[in-house]
Amino acid sequence: MTRGRDLSSLPRMIRTVIEGLGHYVPPRVVTNDDLAKVMATSDEWIFPRTGIKQRHYVEDGVGASDLGVEAAKMAMERAGCTAADIDLIVFATLSPDVCFPGSACFVQHKLGCKQIAALDVRTQCTGFLYGLQVCDSLLRTGAYKKALLIGAEVHSTGIDFSDRGRDVTVLFGDGAGAAVLGTAMGQGTLADRGLHFTKVAADGAGAKDLWCVAPTSARIPRLTHQMLDEGLQYPTMNGKLVFRWATEKMPEVATLALSSAGATIDDLQWFVPHQANLRINELVARKLGIPEAKCWNNIERYGNTTAATIPIGLSELQTLGKSRPGDLVLMAAFGSGFTWGGALLRL
Ligand code: ACO
Repeated sequence: MTRGRDLSSLPRMIRTVIEGLGHYVPPRVVTNDDLAKVMATSDEWIFPRTGIKQRHYVEDGVGASDLGVEAAKMAMERAGCTAADIDLIVFATLSPDVCFPGSACFVQHKLGCKQIAALDVRTQCTGFLYGLQVCDSLLRTGAYKKALLIGAEVHSTGIDFSDRGRDVTVLFGDGAGAAVLGTAMGQGTLADRGLHFTKVAADGAGAKDLWCVAPTSARIPRLTHQMLDEGLQYPTMNGKLVFRWATEKMPEVATLALSSAGATIDDLQWFVPHQANLRINELVARKLGIPEAKCWNNIERYGNTTAATIPIGLSELQTLGKSRPGDLVLMAAFGSGFTWGGALLRL
C-alpha cells in the first residue's frame, strides 16, 4: 500500500504524461478603462503595478463548470480521447458553481462521462499544481488510467465593483484550462516524457491575508444582510504581504523542482508561472536567473484566473506553436492559504 507515502520519492519509471491541453475564456473583454467607468481606478494605476490590460468576464448564468467543460473538450480532442475514456475528474477552483456539490460533479454530467470519480481541489492559485500531484499519485498507482484535470474560475460574479474593493477587483478575470493526463513508461532519466517533480505546501498562518469570509459555516445563519452590507462576501487581501511571500516561495519551490530532478535553467524551454502580477513573475524569474524569453506571461490579456492560469499558459503555448513535444517546462504558483507549489514536466 502507498497510503501516506510520498510518491514523489518513488523511482519514476511510470510517469504521468499530458496527453492533451485545452483552455477557454468567455468572450466578453473588460479593459482597465472599462473598470475606470465604475470605480476609482485607471489604466495608469493598474498596468504599471500589475501588467494587466484586460480580463474576460462571463455572462449571467455561466459558472466555473461551464468554462471548465469548454477547456476539457479542447483537451480531450487534442488527446484523441472521448468522455468515455476518462475515469477521474479533478476540478481545481476557488469559485465553484455552488457551495456543494463540487464542480467536478457538474463536469462529469455535462460531458456525459461514465459514473467515475469526481472531486474538487480547493487550494486557490496553487489549485492546478495540487491537482497535478493528486492525479500523478492516483495514476501512477494504477488506481485510474486517464484523468481530466481542470482549473477554472469565475471571479467576476464575486468581486466588489465599488471603490472599497478596487485593489482586489482589478486583478481578477474568468477562464479555464484543462489537461488530459495518462501514463507512459520512462527510463528514469530527465529525458523521459512526463512529470518529473511535484511539490505543494501550505501555511495557514496567512489564511486571513487573502480570503473571503462569507458565507461561513461558523455563523448562524451563514449569510446575513448585515454581512452583505459589510461586504464580507468579497475577497480581501494584504497585497504587500502576498507580494513578499510569493516572491520568496515561488523561487524556493522552483529551485527545489530543478535540483530534485537534476535539471538546470539551461535544460528548460519554458517557465510557466502562476499569473498573479507581472511584477511578481519578473522578480521570481530574476531570482531564478531565467531569461525573459523563457518565461510565459499572459496576465496582460487575462488578469489573474487563479487555478486556471497555469493550464491556460500551457495550452496557449501549444496553440501558438511556441512549445513542442519534448520541451522541459517548469511551473510555480503561490496563492491564498497561503499555498504554493512547483512542478517540472517534459511535454
Ligand atoms: N486603483 C487605483 N488606486 C488603487 C487601487 C486601484 N485599483 N487599488 C489600491 N489603490 C490605492 C490604494 O488605496 C493606495 O492609496 P493611498 O496611498 O491613498 O492609501 C494606493 O493605491 C497604493 O496602494 P498599495 O496597496 O500600497 O499599492 P501597491 O503598490 O502595494 O500595489 C498591488 C497593490 C498591485 C495589489 C500589490 O500589492 C500586489 O501586486 N500585491 C500582490 C498581490 C497579488 O498579486 N494578489 C493576487 C491574488 S493572490 C495570488 O494570485 C498570488
